[in-house]
Amino acid sequence: MIAVPDNKIWMFDTTLRDGEQALRASLTKKQKLQLAQAISYLGVDIMELGFPASSPGDFDAVAEIARTVKGPIMCALARAVPADVRACGEALSGAEKSRIHTFIASSPLHLQYKLRKTLEQATEQAVNCIELARQYTDDVEFSCEDAGRTPIEDLCYMVEHAIAAGATTINIPDTVGYTVPDEFAGIISALKQRVPNIEQARLSVHCHNDLGLAVANSMAAVAAGARQVEATVNGIGERAGNCSLEEIAMIIKTREEHLGWHTAIQHKEIFRTSRLVSQVCNMPVQQNKAIVGANAFAHSSGIHQDGVLKAQNTYEIMTPESIGVRANELNLTSRSGKHVIKHRLAEMGYREGDYHLQEVYTDFLALADQKGQVFDYDLEALVFAQSLQ
Ligand code: KIV
Ligand code: ZN
Repeated sequence: MIAVPDNKIWMFDTTLRDGEQALRASLTKKQKLQLAQAISYLGVDIMELGFPASSPGDFDAVAEIARTVKGPIMCALARAVPADVRACGEALSGAEKSRIHTFIASSPLHLQYKLRKTLEQATEQAVNCIELARQYTDDVEFSCEDAGRTPIEDLCYMVEHAIAAGATTINIPDTVGYTVPDEFAGIISALKQRVPNIEQARLSVHCHNDLGLAVANSMAAVAAGARQVEATVNGIGERAGNCSLEEIAMIIKTREEHLGWHTAIQHKEIFRTSRLVSQVCNMPVQQNKAIVGANAFAHSSGIHQDGVLKAQNTYEIMTPESIGVRANELNLTSRSGKHVIKHRLAEMGYREGDYHLQEVYTDFLALADQKGQVFDYDLEALVFAQSLQ
C-alpha cells in the first residue's frame, strides 16, 4: 500500500521526454540541463529526463541530469525490452531517487498492427521488464500505451499483472487524445473497482491533446481517483501536445477549496519556466493560452479595465503575481474609458491639474481609432500638445 495523503496530486513532468519528442531539432545537453534545473525549481515530484536507449546523446544527457539536478525523482523511459530497461538503470545510477518507466501497448490496434502480439504475450513481456527494472530501483512505473482505446477487461488484465510483477505506479495514457472526460474518468473508476491489487500502486494519467481535452481528461481522472498527472510545460508534446502542467497546477490552486486537492508546484516559478521552455525549444506560446499566454492578464475592454481598477478580482480569478508575472496590463485602445486614462497618467506622474482630462480623452480616442493601441509615450505627447494650445 502506498502511504500518501489522498489529496496530494503528484506532478510528473515529461517536458524533456514527450515534450522534446515534438521539437524539430533535438535539444543540446546544455539546454536540457538548464530546463531540468528550472523544472526542478518548479517543484515537480517526478521529472522524466529522456529515453536513454534511443541514442548515446540521450543516454549521456539523462545520466548527467540524474547526477547533478536535485529534488524531484529522476525518471527515464524504456520500451518493455530488456536492453531499454538496462539503459535506464545505468543512466539513472547517479540519481539520489530514480524511477524506471516502462511501457507496452495494450490496444487491439497496436497489438495487431504494431507489435503483432496477443495481449497475453505483451503482458508477459511487460512483466519480465518490470521485474528487471525492479533490480535497479524499487520505484517502477508501467504504462499501457493507447489505454484510451483498450477494452476495459484487457486493460484490467494487463494492469493486474503489472502490479503483481512490482510496478508501483500504473500510468493510463490517452496516447492519441481520443477519449472524452466522462469516458476517461470511467476507465479510472473501472480499474479501481475491478483490479484486485490496484491499491498497491499509484494511479497516473498521461493525456494527449488531439481534441483539446488533455487537461479536462486529466482533471476528470483525478476526480475518479488518479493521483499522478503527467504533463509538460506549455503543453508541448507529440502532435497537438500533452496536458499542460501550468494549467493543472493553477486549476488545483485556484479552485483548491472546491476540489480539495493540492500539488507541490511552486506557482511563482510558472511564468519564467514557461518563457524559458518556449525560448529554448523555439516554440512560441499561443497569445491567448490559459495561465501563460501574453493576454492571460491583459484587459482590453473599458468595462473590464474599470472593474479591475476598482477591485482586481472583478475580472481576474488569480493574480499575475501568483504565477510570477509582475503586474496585469491594461491595453489602451478605443475601448478604454476615461478612468483608465486618468489612472495611467497618474502612474506616469501627472497630477489632475496638469491637463484637461476630457480634452486629452477626446484626442486619445481619435488617436486610438487611427493606430489601434496607444502607448505611454503617445499619452505624453497628447498632454504636451494640449499644454501648447
Ligand atoms: O503517450 C504515450 O502513450 C506515452 C507513453 C510512452 C507513456 O508517451
Ligand atoms: Zn505521450
